Amino acid sequence: MTFQKTTLRQIADQLNAKLLGDAAAEVSGVTHDSRQARKGTLFAAIRGLTMDGHRFVTDVIRRGAVGIISESAAPENFQGAWLKVENVREALAKAASVIYGNPSHDLNLVGITGTNGKTTTTYLCFALAEANEEKAAMLTTVEYRIGEKSEPAVRTTPEASDTNRFLREALDENCRTAVMETSSQAIDLHRCDWLRFRVAIFTNLTRDHLDYHLTMGNYYDAKKRLFDGRLGEKPFSSVINIDDEWGAKLAEELKSGGQRVLTFAQNDEADLTAENVEVSLLKGTSFDLLTPKGERKITSPLVGKPHVYNMLAATAAALELGYDLDAICEGLKTCGGAPGRFERVPHDGNFAVVVDYAHSDDALLNTLKTARDLTGGKIITVFGCGGDRDKTKRAPMGEVAGKHSDFVVVTSDNPRTENPLKIIEEIEVGLKNTNCPYLSISDRREAIHRAIMKAEPHDVVLIAGKGHETYQIVGSDKFHFDDREIALEALEKLKEN
Ligand SMILES: Nc1ncnc2c1ncn2[C@@H]1O[C@H](COP(=O)(O)OP(=O)(O)O)[C@@H](O)[C@H]1O
Ligand SMILES: [Mg+2]
Repeated sequence: MTFQKTTLRQIADQLNAKLLGDAAAEVSGVTHDSRQARKGTLFAAIRGLTMDGHRFVTDVIRRGAVGIISESAAPENFQGAWLKVENVREALAKAASVIYGNPSHDLNLVGITGTNGKTTTTYLCFALAEANEEKAAMLTTVEYRIGEKSEPAVRTTPEASDTNRFLREALDENCRTAVMETSSQAIDLHRCDWLRFRVAIFTNLTRDHLDYHLTMGNYYDAKKRLFDGRLGEKPFSSVINIDDEWGAKLAEELKSGGQRVLTFAQNDEADLTAENVEVSLLKGTSFDLLTPKGERKITSPLVGKPHVYNMLAATAAALELGYDLDAICEGLKTCGGAPGRFERVPHDGNFAVVVDYAHSDDALLNTLKTARDLTGGKIITVFGCGGDRDKTKRAPMGEVAGKHSDFVVVTSDNPRTENPLKIIEEIEVGLKNTNCPYLSISDRREAIHRAIMKAEPHDVVLIAGKGHETYQIVGSDKFHFDDREIALEALEKLKEN
């Protein structure tokens, strides 16, 4: 990784911090995670909800950390450098940008916020970059990726130190474009401060995460910070869904502040729109794409009207980055979106097999409704509930599955240390409130095989709960398990018979 030399003095100046200690000491990294602190690291001591970083300050200095960033004054007789700041999270973000040489300044960085569609839109933006023959990077709920190189994601939006290190690596590996989900919680926690976004996208805002933000107004305001400069810099342009009432408000507010805005909509006039939308479970979604650069007919493997919004958003961002419209269309025609989000398992039969990560009653209901809208056939649902996690959703998930399916196979998700049969019994309590016929098979592989064997023309087999996961956790063992692979195996077997 390429580095500029940075001293404590330089960092302290950037942070407006009061510095105690050796100003000439060289800084080689910054972290809030004491386990990652090593020689030359600056340690940001954050008072979190459950843990106070100040507990580790002596320890990290002993292990070679070059200094501490904190909102408090240095303890008496403290042996090390100390930077006192107003806001430690913001300071962490700024320090990370400086230490890694402001990588966001040299990339086309796209940030995506909204209640739904962030991951899918991120995958679409990444695919459009590749279709335009640009190497790209992305940070998503599913994975962190630089070109072909991928690692599983730890969280949707990493801490600022991890993001800046990632962006530096992307630059060093010749990426020109980087795309990231920016959750409203992450914005709130200053994880995206001082990033320079070339494009910021607003997908939509619905009643979700209200447990964290308490009111819609707060929630809107958290998201707005990505757009209005309160993170340190304004995005060069903003791409906004104005079919969403909060999006329409945001577009108006930014425009009246003189900012560059590109709007998209399906029900209203906008810079980018879609007409003649047709959705088919087996053939995907087709529509006429209308952009300031011209019109094109698109057929996408993604299924559902919401995904048309995601495609409009990604197209608008791509046009802002100067991509060729024909390259964009090629990307849209081939991109299957994010893994495990209503992902169709490819086969040439006349029924559909869909893998979806819905693992709450609410998400399961949405997915089942989507499936119902798209088929005249039966819906056969396979699902279970995770062990050692929220038990109160088991019966409601059973009830939702029973109400909205024609047949259910109850099975195991990740049972962890719980007895799988006990979890299944708790799901059955809800199922028994419905008239839906069902089978209980604790072995997930066998359950998927049975469901696929039952399918007839026009049916949908929905395998819910694990989505993109490639493992199953039973007891304390984690072994390879991929719903999509098992479904393919079952489809193969069906063909042989
Ligand atoms: N633009 C959209 N509007 C409404 N719902 C959407 C949209 N895009 C995706 N969805 C639905 O929302 C769920 C989450 O999609 P995902 O792309 O993972 O979004 P996020 O990263 O914001 O959670 C999926 O079940 C999907 O079907
Ligand atoms: Mg996501």
